[in-house]
Amino acid sequence: MDKIIVEGGDPLKGEVTISGSKNAALPILSACLLTGGWHTLDNIPKLKDIWTIKEILSNLGVVFEENNQSLKVNTDNLNSHIAPYKLVKTMRASILVLGPLLSRLGKAKISLPGGCAIGARPIDLHLKGLSLMGADINLAHGYVVANADKLRGADIFFDISTVTGTENLMMAAVKADGVTTLHNAAKEPEVIDLANMLKTMGARINGAGTDTVTITGVKELHPVKYTIIPDRIEVGTFLIAAAITKGEITIKGCNENHIEAIMEKLLETGTEIKKEGEVLIVIGHDKIKSVDIKTMQFPGFPTDMQAQFMSLMSIADGWSIIRETIFENRFMHVSELRRMGADIEINGGQALVRGKTNLSGAQVMATDLRASASLVLAGLVAKGRTEISRVYHLDRGYQDLDLKLSLLGSKIWREKQ
Ligand code: EPU
Repeated sequence: MDKIIVEGGDPLKGEVTISGSKNAALPILSACLLTGGWHTLDNIPKLKDIWTIKEILSNLGVVFEENNQSLKVNTDNLNSHIAPYKLVKTMRASILVLGPLLSRLGKAKISLPGGCAIGARPIDLHLKGLSLMGADINLAHGYVVANADKLRGADIFFDISTVTGTENLMMAAVKADGVTTLHNAAKEPEVIDLANMLKTMGARINGAGTDTVTITGVKELHPVKYTIIPDRIEVGTFLIAAAITKGEITIKGCNENHIEAIMEKLLETGTEIKKEGEVLIVIGHDKIKSVDIKTMQFPGFPTDMQAQFMSLMSIADGWSIIRETIFENRFMHVSELRRMGADIEINGGQALVRGKTNLSGAQVMATDLRASASLVLAGLVAKGRTEISRVYHLDRGYQDLDLKLSLLGSKIWREKQ
């Protein structure tokens, strides 16, 4: 198992290019199951969660061919409808194969994802929607067993807007009989990217990116060539890396419409951001003003940036209140940041961060993906050496974060534990 060592204090300088979006690539790879043929996907990031979904798809009979730029996906011969526990337990997003398998094969057996470090994260809304579309759903021996001779269109109201729930039902609906309307649908850019990919396959979808999505079932879909959007959370992480180290970096391959809430908050801290098309130049300044944030569904401030922003607020001038409204347990990084000297108090779903001028390097442990990123960011500015263990969490969702940071001038490397 690797650990990451950071020796803090160097301002970042230089250029970095953003990889493809993990959370768009996962449903798009799953959507390839909807029809046979060779699909070609570009800008798929190279990270552990992608490896996991590829394992799940391989188990179903999918074949991959890879070169540097593109991933070719052949879905002609599906010979299983099962996503087993040993793979699903490592990644909750495995549930994304449920909708496509039901649509293509009329059956699916998917291990139930358990709870995870950031909360209970049920999938009841995915299952309720599929039942309304005519699927027979049973839970047995830790698996969701779903059958449907033919899915039919339905009017579905989500009690809570859910990203993968919206994606799963959109995929189930594209070949269903009739019209499906998803109310209170998730509006995240990754949902729009999936809808665009499905439309390229021949699906009829209206309203993706609004809270009402209408899908009119079609008889046939065809394989596609599609390019995944850039990862907005990776962009946000590098924006904070520049701000926290008071550096100046150029971030290439950004879609600024996806990160408005993050940019707005960073501008309030006094960080400078210049926009030139798909390039952002970010300049950190000595004085970082503290600001409050509240995580919200898109276009609000993303929960996936909360931990990283908290690291920045730990060294800001003044107090900041950080409210987490999406997941009930997403403050696991707080106790680790405290080990580095951060002054943070948690009260229910909110954290009070009392900014101070310095953090000190310490041995800390990553607890989930974004928590790991927050510890790396804190390490970049802490005095002395920070050792972050359990970095497999980081590798699930960032492509080469440590390498990219070292090319920007920080002293960061990996060691075997
Ligand atoms: N929820 C339910 N029932 C459901 C589904 C969701 O109660 O059936 C609740 C959840 O417990 C949560 C809220 O609804 O309180 C929103 O969860 P959502 O379903 O939107 O989350 P998700 O689809 O499981 C995706 C991302 C997460 C990201 C969240 C929120 C993927 C693969 N994952 O998860 O990404 O935090 O949306 O934006 O798209 C990450 O990349 O680090 C990550 C955790």
